[in-house]
Amino acid sequence: MLRRKLEKWVDKNVIVTGGASFIGSHLVDKLDNVGANVTVVDNLSSGSIDNLAKSRDKINLIKKDLEHVAKNEVKQIFRNQNIIFHLAAIHGGRGYIQKHPADVCSNLSIDHHVFEGASQNNVENIVFASTACVYLMIFNREWALTINLRNLTQTQKNWLVT
Ligand SMILES: NC(=O)c1ccc[n+]([C@@H]2O[C@H](COP(=O)([O-])OP(=O)(O)OC[C@H]3O[C@@H](n4cnc5c(N)ncnc54)[C@H](O)[C@@H]3O)[C@@H](O)[C@H]2O)c1
Repeated sequence: MLRRKLEKWVDKNVIVTGGASFIGSHLVDKLDNVGANVTVVDNLSSGSIDNLAKSRDKINLIKKDLEHVAKNEVKQIFRNQNIIFHLAAIHGGRGYIQKHPADVCSNLSIDHHVFEGASQNNVENIVFASTACVYLMIFNREWALTINLRNLTQTQKNWLVT
């Protein structure tokens, strides 16, 4: 059963954006192990080639800034890909977002380019790593676990579902 599930990755063309990151590089190693043709797209701003030491010789590494990139370039990179794991992001946790709200726009730009490139190339699947940081600060606190949803204001409830 497991073997059959893993077989579906053999010869699949897979892109991992942000694949040189801690999380991304482990995913890249795993995909390489199960026979996928992996392309990493990363600007190496916080990621590192060293993270890819295990699979570096077997994967395609494209050093590219997905925030400031021509749409045609993304279209070209995403051509003939089956699946995209989108992990590239400026990532610093909830406190960082609170202190640098404008930097969130960089992520919006990266996401836009990735989703548009995927759509233009009819990529079958895209997996997007979101984060708990999208929720209000109050939901990051321990007591949020015991919060009574009925006591929330309508605005807070709206935040929960967006
Ligand atoms: N680390 C966590 O605990 C955690 C938890 C939940 C969700 N996530 C999400 O998972 C994803 C990956 O997280 P991570 O911890 O590996 O983050 P990370 O900061 O280590 O990795 C982000 C990767 O994206 C690359 N990158 C940044 N800007 C880029 C750009 N403009 N163009 C191309 N590449 C760019 C970086 O070089 C890096 O390799 C993020 O979307 C993050 O929000 C992480």
